[in-house]
Amino acid sequence: MRRRYPILRALAAQVLAVALVALAAFLIVNLGRLPVHWVLLVLAQAGLAVWIGKRFGLVRWWSVFQALFVPALLGLNALALPPVAYLAAFLIVLLLNWNSFRHGVPLYLTSNQATLRLAELLRERGPEFKFIDLGCGLAGPLCQLARRYPLAQFTGVETAPLTFLIAWLRALPRRNCHIRYRSLWRVSLTPYDVIYCFLSPLPMSDLWQKALVELRPGAVFISNTFGIPGVSPDEEYSLPDRRRTRLLVWKK
Ligand SMILES: C[S@@+](CC[C@H](N)C(=O)[O-])C[C@H]1O[C@@H](n2cnc3c(N)ncnc32)[C@H](O)[C@@H]1O
Repeated sequence: MRRRYPILRALAAQVLAVALVALAAFLIVNLGRLPVHWVLLVLAQAGLAVWIGKRFGLVRWWSVFQALFVPALLGLNALALPPVAYLAAFLIVLLLNWNSFRHGVPLYLTSNQATLRLAELLRERGPEFKFIDLGCGLAGPLCQLARRYPLAQFTGVETAPLTFLIAWLRALPRRNCHIRYRSLWRVSLTPYDVIYCFLSPLPMSDLWQKALVELRPGAVFISNTFGIPGVSPDEEYSLPDRRRTRLLVWKK
C-alpha cells in the first residue's frame, strides 16, 4: 500500500489535515475564546497535508499538490464558475494524468536541454536504430528526435487517454514515429536499441527487472532523473535545465 494508490494516500492526508485543523479551530474558539483568522487555518491545513502526505509515503513532488489543493479549491469557489467548468477541468486533469492517480507517474515533460543531449547520445548509433519512450507523454522528445534522425524508428507508448490522443496527433505527420495506446509493462523491449523513460521513483526497480530480461546486447536504457535503487548507471549527464535533471545511462 505504501507504494501503490498515491491518490488515495493524498486524499487521506487532505481529509486528515482538514479534520485536525477543524478540531484545533474548534478548541481555540470555544475553549480558548480566541479569534482565528481563516488564512491561518488554510496555511495550517496546507502544511499539515504536506507533512502527513510525506508520512504516508508520498514522494516529494506530491507536496506541491498537497499544499495547493485546499487554497485552489477556495480560490475556484470564489470565482463562482458554473459547475460544468469544474467538471471539465477535473476531467482534463484526470485524462492527462491518468497514470498519476493509478501508478504514481504524473505528466511532466523532458526539457529541451535533455532532448538535445539525448540527440547527441544517439549520434553514436548511426542513422538507423530503434528508439522507444516508455510513457511518451505528449511526444515532444519523440517528434524532435524523429525529425533529427529520419532513418531511425521512434515508438512511444502511453496510457493516459488525453495525453495519448495529443501525442498520437502530433506524431501523425512523421512517418518514422508511432504512438501506441499500450502500457509500458505490456511492450517487449527486445526490438529496441534505445529505451528511454522519464517516470518516477516508483516503477524503477520493476522496470529494471523487465529490462534485465528483455534488453538485447548492445541496447541502452536511459532514465531521465530517476535512478534504479542499488544499480549505478554506466554514464550520467547533469543538465543545466530548470529542474536540474540528469540523464542516467545503463548499457547492456
Ligand atoms: C513524466 S511523463 C514523461 C513524458 C515524456 N516521456 C517526456 O519525457 O516528455 C510520464 C508519462 O508516462 C506515462 N505512463 C505512466 N505509467 C505508464 C504505463 N504503465 N504505461 C504507459 N504510460 C505510462 C504517464 O501517463 C506520463 O504521460
